[in-house]
Amino acid sequence: MTDEDLDAAARDILTANDRGGYTIPTAGLYPFQWNWDSAFAAWGFSTFDADRAWTELETLFSAQWSTGMVPHIVFHKEDDGYFPGPDVWDTGTTPATSGISQPPVAAILARLIHDRVGGTERLRALYPKLLAWHRWWLECRVAHGIACIAHPWESGRDNCPDWDPGMANVDTAGVGTYQRRDTGHVDAAMRPSKEDYDRYITMVKFGRECGWDQVEIRDNGPFLMGDPATTFILIRANRDLAAIADILGEDSAEPTAWADEMEAALPWLWSDDLQAYVARDARTGVFASAISSGAALGLLAGVENAAMEEKLAAMWDRVRYGIPSNDPAAPSFEPRRYWRGPTWPVVNALIAVGLTSAGRDADEARLRRETAELIRQGGFFEYFDPTDGTACGGDRFTWTAAIWLAWANREET
Ligand code: SER
Repeated sequence: MTDEDLDAAARDILTANDRGGYTIPTAGLYPFQWNWDSAFAAWGFSTFDADRAWTELETLFSAQWSTGMVPHIVFHKEDDGYFPGPDVWDTGTTPATSGISQPPVAAILARLIHDRVGGTERLRALYPKLLAWHRWWLECRVAHGIACIAHPWESGRDNCPDWDPGMANVDTAGVGTYQRRDTGHVDAAMRPSKEDYDRYITMVKFGRECGWDQVEIRDNGPFLMGDPATTFILIRANRDLAAIADILGEDSAEPTAWADEMEAALPWLWSDDLQAYVARDARTGVFASAISSGAALGLLAGVENAAMEEKLAAMWDRVRYGIPSNDPAAPSFEPRRYWRGPTWPVVNALIAVGLTSAGRDADEARLRRETAELIRQGGFFEYFDPTDGTACGGDRFTWTAAIWLAWANREET
């Protein structure tokens, strides 16, 4: 296939995964609207259908809770091929949603989409919703000044070893029985383990039983970890929101102050042992035992630390394709198991936004070239083995198609 053929195939995937105002990540495995997937889908649509790009974000925010939270899954239509479905979450919302959030990338992508195709009035309508969501993060997910996640799914990087210290302390005694559906769609060796799922479902049970009281979940839930990736994303998203405020003639003081405050708290995530920003258990203070692609998102937030960049460069050089989700030198590295080692085109795209901001053009070009190579060889899969390029997880994947169109196959970003 030529790159033009791949462009056409990518547009076809976005169109085929369109369920009417929103896209599913991939048929079968993920049959609903996912939060950060949708923001990247919108970026992809912006390369050929500006109106549809804005609609994707508008549909996502139509499910925003009155508290400002934008949930990580919106169950627009019934589909029993996914577990845990709306009855397990039982949030009582219309539309039915999950009870946790996902990395707040929407403001970052909304700004990039506006740069590409305009749409100031659509952006104006989204602005107060973005502001309310970011405020929710500060009110319900900050501890030690850092953006924390109350469930590994909230990080979007589900079974990354980043969460192992917090996961180890989750008591699964009351989890009960349940039937997973993910392993009916893709190879179980590429998915989280049963022990992981027992913990995931235990956390959902806690949220359900406290009526999705998000402060209670933060303060007393079974799991809370400081996430460098979500923290860097939120700092960047607040800076982008401030830039959006300037475009709209709004006051940018609030998002600017939020970004400044979180930046000042970053030392809490610094590991002297690993010489990097590292995930850290908010309850016990224990650090994860290896660096991950989360640290590579530092440049998004303007964080430039020479010692950490040296570690990240070594991590990248240990593989052939893209930034791995976990350090190949770590004993926990598994090159094909979801977030325990594979490279994710969508994360590479986000890292590239940071590299561009930092003026690291040669590194950005290398990351774009390696990511494009994976897609040319393997197709639009969810993630890839970074050592040999084997395609993994779901096929015809929305965000891989989207980042091909918006970034990987572009000379410019
Ligand atoms: N990624 C999760 C899953 O695999 C949900 O966000 O089901």
